[in-house]
This record gives sequence, C-alpha cells and structure tokens, in this order.
Amino acid sequence: MLATQPQVQQTKHLKLISKTYQNNTDSDYTEKIRDLGNEYDYKINSNYYWGDPELSVLYGTPLYNVASNSQKLALNHLFWVANYNYIAASEANTSIYNSVTNGVFRNLGTYETLCQELDFETDQESYHIRTFQKIGFKTKMAIVGKTTLGNSVYTKSDKDNNNWFKSLIPDFVQEFFISSKGNSRFSIYRDNTLNAIAKTMLRDKQQYYSQYLRDLEEKGQPIPAPADGVGGLIAPRYWLKFFTTHWGMSPFMACQYYSLRYMANAVLKNQEYPYVKYFRELERKGEYIPAPTAVSYYHLMDEAFHTTISQTIGKDMYKDFPKPTAYEKFVSGQIIYMMQRNLLNGLSGVFPNRCVADDPLFMVFIYKLLKSSLFEMETKEALDWMEKCFCQEHEGFHVGLKYHQSLLESLQKFFGCLDYQWKINREMGIMASGGSISKALQNNVKTFKQFSESIIAST
Ligand SMILES: [Fe+2]
Ligand SMILES: [Fe+2]
Repeated sequence: MLATQPQVQQTKHLKLISKTYQNNTDSDYTEKIRDLGNEYDYKINSNYYWGDPELSVLYGTPLYNVASNSQKLALNHLFWVANYNYIAASEANTSIYNSVTNGVFRNLGTYETLCQELDFETDQESYHIRTFQKIGFKTKMAIVGKTTLGNSVYTKSDKDNNNWFKSLIPDFVQEFFISSKGNSRFSIYRDNTLNAIAKTMLRDKQQYYSQYLRDLEEKGQPIPAPADGVGGLIAPRYWLKFFTTHWGMSPFMACQYYSLRYMANAVLKNQEYPYVKYFRELERKGEYIPAPTAVSYYHLMDEAFHTTISQTIGKDMYKDFPKPTAYEKFVSGQIIYMMQRNLLNGLSGVFPNRCVADDPLFMVFIYKLLKSSLFEMETKEALDWMEKCFCQEHEGFHVGLKYHQSLLESLQKFFGCLDYQWKINREMGIMASGGSISKALQNNVKTFKQFSESIIAST
C-alpha cells in the first residue's frame, strides 16, 4: 500500500466518501429521473417555459427580439434539448473513465467503498442519459420534425477538401495515412507508440494497471476515445487514448482525472443551477412544473454526490500517494491546458450559458434551425440574420459573460489549490482571457465569413 500521508487525513476523506455513498444510495432522485423520462409527453409541457427566458437559443439576439411567442417557447425548449444532448454525450464519456480509474483504485485495496460509489455513479449515468435522450427526441420531433440539426454541411465540404488534397499525394502514401475504415496504418502506429511511451514512463506502476484496460487488451480492442461531449472537445482521440493509459495505470494520475471530471461537474452546475432556481420558484408559487425542469432539478441533486466525489479525489485523495513525478506533472499540466484551450476558450453569442466559442458546428445548428419549419427562412435571409446574431454585439453576449464569470470563479477556486499544476492552469489563464465580448465578436466574424462562403458555394 502506498499510503505516505498521516492516517488522520486519509480517514477524513474516506469518511466523506462513505457518507456520500450512503446518502447517494439512500436517495431516490435517479428513480424520479427515470420515471419522468418514461412518462414524458411534449404536449403537456409545450405551453410552459422550462427555465428563465434567458435559457433560450438565440436569447438576446436581434432575431429573438422579433420572434413570435410560440417561437420563443420553442427556443427555450430547444435550448434544454441542446444542453442535455451535450450532457448525455459527456456522461457517456464519464462512464468510461469511471471504469478505467476504478480499476486502479480496486488494485489499491483500501478504497472499496469508493469503487462501489463509482460503479453506482456509472449506473446512475445510464438512467440520466436515457431520460435526456427520450425527452430530447420527442421534443425535437415535435418542434422541427425530422430535420437534422447536425453537421452534414461540414461533412460535405471536408470530403471535398480531402479529394482535392488526395489528388496531390501518391497512392502508397495515401494508403499509409488514410483509411476508409477509420484506422490507417499511420494512426495504429501513432496510437501504439504513444501507448508504449506512457507504459514505459509509468513502468514502476504496472501493478495498478486497470482491469478495464487489461480486459480490452485481452480482447484485442482499442482504448475507447469519445468523439463528442466534453471529452471529444478537449483533445483529439489519440491524445485521449494516451491520457487514458495514464489514468488507468498510475494512482496519482487516476486521481488527477477527477480534477478534469470536476471541471465537467462545474460546467454542468453552471448550466443546470438556473433550472433548479426556476423549479423552486414554481414550487413556491404552487405552479405547474414542466417535466424537463423537474429532470434538471433531480439531476443536479444526483450530480451533487458526483461533484463531492470528484472534489474529494481531485483535491485531497491524491495526497495519499507519492508526489507526482516530473513526467506525471507534465502530462497533468498538458491535460488541463488542452481543456482550457479547446473547451473553455470563449463565449457563445447564441447559447448564453455555454462557455465555448461559437464554431462552425454551432453555425450549422443555427442555420438548419432557421431553415426548419420553425422559422422557414430562405438561404439568404438565414445568413443575414446569422450575421446579425453572431457578429454584432447584443444582450446575448452579456448574458454569456455572466455565466462565463461564475464558471471561471469556481474553476479558479478548485484548480488554485492544486500545487502540482502549471501556473496558467491554477489561474485558468486561457479561460480568463477568453471572457471577452470583443474577442468573441472577432472570432465570430472570421468563422462566419468561412461558414457563409461554404454555404453559398454548396447552393
Ligand atoms: Fe448525470
Ligand atoms: Fe455524474
């Protein structure tokens, strides 16, 4: 056993973990979420706001100001759906990493209650995801029908670029780098090389290697790496696989993963807490509580247990193990740096509570929404409105800045305590510099120009 810290400190967080596990298993929030998902009927909830009007797609934009009451209601509902679509994908990511790190904690012997809690959390996430998907699907179908609000416009232009690029490269080089099945020989070599580097650098920690990763190796399966949700945005998949080997091998790195999970918990709370306040207000007034609002409320209650666990492991439990090596510190720094640079890098002008810069995918979503049966716009009209919403200052950016500030404060408080982290991560320096309306507008002018050109070229 690697315990090097005073027994009293370890006892303190083991006690907190036991208490959290007890409270979590005693609660019935997951069952309530499951039932709300099973019984959900859009019609019963369609005439109510599910959260404050500022929790609406396009809130504060010039288009929102001229939208009809029924369009405003739909934008409030679609905002919930878009948020929870993203949350569902992120929770699917979490379930993988809970299992990876749990395999390390199990090998340590004295963290059995924690292992049970993590298994229980993974189980809870599967119920959360199912409810989010059920409500999301029924709502989307009722508002925009079968219209896909995805990214096919970009898939098309990527393919075109690829064809142009391909014509310049000899066939044998193409075969090495590109595969129609997704795994080129280059990507397999790259993944194997990165995996070998991680295992060499952590070779003294082999005895903690996660059973989850061992099982995958025995079956000849690759390490899973999400392409969407929080995980998919943080880093390319080969980086995620590389990091996963660390989280599944070193006790310190397994704990470090929970600082990343805390970030996801804080993002979620930032998105969800306004719904909880709205729920309490309706309850106080004795008014009807829409089912999605209730799901948000019970979900935040469930997630409060998960947040406590992330905090306890990420901020305290890692001290049970020997101090991180220079290599482990470097990898930990890189992970959080990428998290800031790729995920928490700006403000959105159209999704007020998301602290992510508007990118081409968001623009595709809005474009398809404006062309759907909800707005029925022609291409030129849609692009003209989009330019006003993305590229001109309006109230939506100011609401976004408010949410950005509250998330920044909670992350600075957490990461500021991690003495092994790089200064730019302790201070959340990259995220802080992204909290600027003028930077968001500059980014959007550039992105929108490329976006509108690609739309015009494809029509
Ligand atoms: Fe959840
Ligand atoms: Fe969770």
